[in-house]
Amino acid sequence: MLLHTASWPEIDAYLAKHKGIIIPIGSTEQHGPNGLLGTDALCPEIIAREAALDRDDVLIGPTFNVGQAQHHLGFAGTISLRPSTMIAAMCDWADSLARHGFERLYWFNGHGGNVATITAAFSQMYGQSSFARGGHNLPKLRNNLRNWWELPGVADVIKDIFPVGDGSHATASEVSVTYWAYPQAIKRVEMSPKIAPTGPILDAEDYRRRFPDGRIGSDPSQATPEAGGRIVAKAAQALLVDYEDFLKAA
Ligand code: NI
Repeated sequence: MLLHTASWPEIDAYLAKHKGIIIPIGSTEQHGPNGLLGTDALCPEIIAREAALDRDDVLIGPTFNVGQAQHHLGFAGTISLRPSTMIAAMCDWADSLARHGFERLYWFNGHGGNVATITAAFSQMYGQSSFARGGHNLPKLRNNLRNWWELPGVADVIKDIFPVGDGSHATASEVSVTYWAYPQAIKRVEMSPKIAPTGPILDAEDYRRRFPDGRIGSDPSQATPEAGGRIVAKAAQALLVDYEDFLKAA
């Protein structure tokens, strides 16, 4: 079930029985010469939608699709939030959901660069009740952060399909996931060098100098929709288990 294709009475009815929601969260940033700018937002969205297919007890929120991408701003199309903006926006999303009775927010992340800011946003959210003096009336809220590629079993599937050159940015695996969902967006590009260099991430100008076509350590010309389908199937199954565990957690 998707929040943005549901009506408010449907969400009201859902909340009578359930307190959780999965929120895909990612980034809009360059993903090398053949990767989609939306890759990091699309991957968790695609996996979450697959997991929730025909399930009226699993609710997927709108995708928080712009994140921490300052280092990619040297490439056209990238959009970034400052950390302080992202923390404020996440807190507003959480406060809105908590007002309706949501208590468990499962933030399903597609971008490694978001992790520190998401964790800081959680501290900001919990701080609202921690700083409240002597007994507060704030809604109960619990957050969970999960990166899609860290779900149990997913790394093994990726290693099996791409033993060499999956890399760490514009990976063959993430590009495959988007190609599976958006076959009309497949781009065939020769990679040079075949496997991209690796190195530290600083500001946008430095990034473009170190990684001229945007990739880090990867050969995403290996990406195929078939590989994406295998990864999505494994990740969607693992997501449901992980989400159920989070809902049950003390
Ligand atoms: Ni990515």
